[in-house]
Amino acid sequence: MIYYKTEAEVALMKEAALLVSKTLAEVAKMLQPGVTTMQIDTLCKTFVQDHKAIPSFYNYHGYPHNVCASINDVVVHGFPNNIALKEGDIVSIDMGVILNGWHGDHAYTFILGEVSNEVLQLVKVTKESLYKGIEKAIVGNRVGDIASAIQEHTEKKYGYGVVRELVGHGLGRSLHEDPQVPNYGKRGNGPKLKENLVIAIEPMINLGKKEVYTDKDGWTVKTADGKPSVHFEHDVCVKKDKALILSDYSIIEVAEKLNPNLNTTYY
Ligand code: MF3
Ligand code: CO
Repeated sequence: MIYYKTEAEVALMKEAALLVSKTLAEVAKMLQPGVTTMQIDTLCKTFVQDHKAIPSFYNYHGYPHNVCASINDVVVHGFPNNIALKEGDIVSIDMGVILNGWHGDHAYTFILGEVSNEVLQLVKVTKESLYKGIEKAIVGNRVGDIASAIQEHTEKKYGYGVVRELVGHGLGRSLHEDPQVPNYGKRGNGPKLKENLVIAIEPMINLGKKEVYTDKDGWTVKTADGKPSVHFEHDVCVKKDKALILSDYSIIEVAEKLNPNLNTTYY
């Protein structure tokens, strides 16, 4: 069952998505070697609650934390922990909130200090692929058009591994609604996109092979070959000529550029 939103509902969902963006901007301010992902979790929880919203991941199917913190070879759903982050780490923070009954859910990957050129390129290309997918989120296109745009830019062009096991999704009163939005597929395939469908598009792209496995904690998804993986996620509303991005990377990027511990040389 696909739920299309009214204009008023889209406006409320933008508020939820923007609260996540603001939270991720706070993360951008605090990131430095020595900080732990548990400290990030606490900051995000407090920030969201202070803005009259609920962290939505906590207890979602038993998920035991407020954010997903996925470092290096962790693809997604990493548990926050008390290990100090270090120079050279790539840090994906994924956060969900419920604000006035509507979900926001998005993610950003930060680079702590110096990394190899191949990792820098992986981050750049994964972010680019998200926007390639978003360009296709217009009325009349199909989910497969989004999927194939992401796959072409990452797998075909750069030989990266596109994770198959996890996909983007519809978003609304629930965190995961129909349709599923894979990061691989064929143009012209899948459900048709209609106006005011809200979806989370979230490429998960591996430097090496596409294969992943779930850790014995039941959540943490890691690359099978141990190579790094990058995750970016935006909340997007399907429109006629140009998709409306409900979340906002610009405020995260401003904070990221102002933090000398973060590497922003790729954009
Ligand atoms: N962005 C992820 C997703 O859409 C976050 C889910 S994590 C969970 O699936 F803990 F809430 F499951
Ligand atoms: Co999501």
